Amino acid sequence: MFSRSICLLAAAICWTLVGAHTVITYPGWRGDNLITNDTWPYGMQWMYPCGGMPTTTNRTLWPVTGGAVALQPGWFQGHATAFFYMNMGFGTDGPMAGPPNMSFPMVPVFQIVGPSKNPYPGAFCLPQVPLPVGVNVSIGDNATIQVVETAIHGAALYSCVDITFADPQDVAEVNATNCFNSSDISFNSVYSIAGSTSGATRTLATTSLLPLVGLLMYAFI
Ligand SMILES: *[C@@H]1O[C@H](CO)[C@@H](O)[C@H](O)[C@H]1NC(C)=O
Ligand SMILES: *[C@@H]1O[C@H](CO)[C@@H](O)[C@H](O)[C@H]1NC(C)=O
Ligand SMILES: *[C@@H]1O[C@H](CO)[C@@H](O)[C@H](O)[C@H]1NC(C)=O
Ligand SMILES: *[C@@H]1O[C@H](CO)[C@@H](O)[C@H](O)[C@H]1NC(C)=O
Ligand SMILES: *[C@@H]1O[C@H](CO)[C@@H](O)[C@H](O)[C@H]1NC(C)=O
Ligand SMILES: *[C@@H]1O[C@H](CO)[C@@H](O)[C@H](O)[C@H]1NC(C)=O
Ligand SMILES: *[C@@H]1O[C@H](CO)[C@@H](O)[C@H](O)[C@H]1NC(C)=O
Repeated sequence: MFSRSICLLAAAICWTLVGAHTVITYPGWRGDNLITNDTWPYGMQWMYPCGGMPTTTNRTLWPVTGGAVALQPGWFQGHATAFFYMNMGFGTDGPMAGPPNMSFPMVPVFQIVGPSKNPYPGAFCLPQVPLPVGVNVSIGDNATIQVVETAIHGAALYSCVDITFADPQDVAEVNATNCFNSSDISFNSVYSIAGSTSGATRTLATTSLLPLVGLLMYAFI
């Protein structure tokens, strides 16, 4: 919270402070997994399902009706474009006291277009990510949000945040400080090719998520 205020006051140094060790900037993340060393020679973030980070107990409250997810996508090279997946897993009965699986998509896959194939600053935020279709949750239930970012070559980076579902009024406010779209990151719709006996049919995987029209740009960074 402190660094977010600083960020608002001094946008120029925002990247240095907030960006230093964060990928899921809202509602938080399990911890710093931007590590490459002898244990993780390819980098920790590539490990399914949560970039090598075990389940945490410092859970963030997240609205039982769904809520915001904000990200800094440009940590590694090779993400001039990237596909994003956001999934949810439920409970703590799985490996490392996490969910048994992360098999509940919250949004259809979408693509971002960044400014460079080299690492870049900047963030984007989806203010109202819904719960996975068909699931029922109660206030106090625990879940994990998994964000998957695939590089141009298809390899996937993983980050997670452990949450506890809460009454929306008990969740910290989402505003232009912690939920904004940088002007140098844009979005593409993702097309799916639906196979059929008469040949491939192009179908727009439409989502209310990705209209380019109305893209709000807070050029903080
Ligand atoms: C939980 O604690 C870890 C370790 O201190 C920290 O890196 C991480 O940001 C915290 N996560 C949340 C959601 O507060
Ligand atoms: C690599 O970093 C991880 C996470 O901090 C740590 O657990 C591990 O011991 C480190 N490995 C080496 C060889 O330093
Ligand atoms: C949710 O997680 C918290 C922190 O790990 C734990 O104290 C609490 O008992 C869990 N709640 C449920 C319903 O499992
Ligand atoms: C995935 O996890 C849910 C609980 O969150 C469980 O009900 C379901 O059976 C699991 N699916 C598979 C394929 O394991
Ligand atoms: C969710 O709750 C509704 C209303 O209580 C119920 O009709 C529905 O079957 C539940 N769905 C699941 C997947 O449990
Ligand atoms: C945005 O919300 C945070 C709490 O989530 C709060 O600390 C901050 O002051 C708010 N910023 C503005 C500009 O209202
Ligand atoms: C960021 O852009 C996406 C895609 O157009 C949009 O869904 C989202 O609402 C925007 N976020 C903000 C904070 O305006």
